[in-house]
Amino acid sequence: MIHIHDKKFTPFISASEIEFAIAKMAHLIAVDFADEVPVFIGILNGSFMVVSDLMKQYKKPCEVSFIKLASYNGLTSSTNVQELIGINQDLSGRSVVIIEDIVDTGHTLLALKELFKKQNVKHFKIATLFLKSEAYKQDVKIDYVGIRIPNKFIVGFGLDYDGLGRNLPEVYQLKE
Ligand code: IMP
Ligand code: MG
Repeated sequence: MIHIHDKKFTPFISASEIEFAIAKMAHLIAVDFADEVPVFIGILNGSFMVVSDLMKQYKKPCEVSFIKLASYNGLTSSTNVQELIGINQDLSGRSVVIIEDIVDTGHTLLALKELFKKQNVKHFKIATLFLKSEAYKQDVKIDYVGIRIPNKFIVGFGLDYDGLGRNLPEVYQLKE
């Protein structure tokens, strides 16, 4: 068990399970984009580890960029998703793969979909390492899902609890 701020967390998903899930996603993306050079767009801050590992497993030409959004305060998601750093690259005609650390309510995805409507992208796909299936209520299709998890708060592998825990190489679940 570990302590972060005022809360206790227990081990939940190992580094090797994560590695396996990311390798699987990289492979599926490579098959789908066989003749294209996709642009991976990581959603900061949480996705930096997923993007890094996924890129290393992606054996074909690809590009990477990041945008910064925020919707979380402490332990709960909010509907107010703010774009903090926008895309400074022309994505018209490109195949874009959004890379998320985790999809919870899906508010972030909805905001992304709106943002990308304005860009004339060729393909718009979404990949997430973790999906809280029971919490996800949106119609937006998620094309690549690493690991489905129950509706509980997790930290590690890029995910934080009020700023801490992102550096953990494996994932921990809130102890209740
Ligand atoms: P959504 O907009 O509710 O789908 O939330 C998505 C964002 O909230 C993710 O990209 C994370 O940054 C954050 N988030 C959702 N669930 C968790 C969690 O269990 N731990 C840490 N951050 C989370
Ligand atoms: Mg995030």
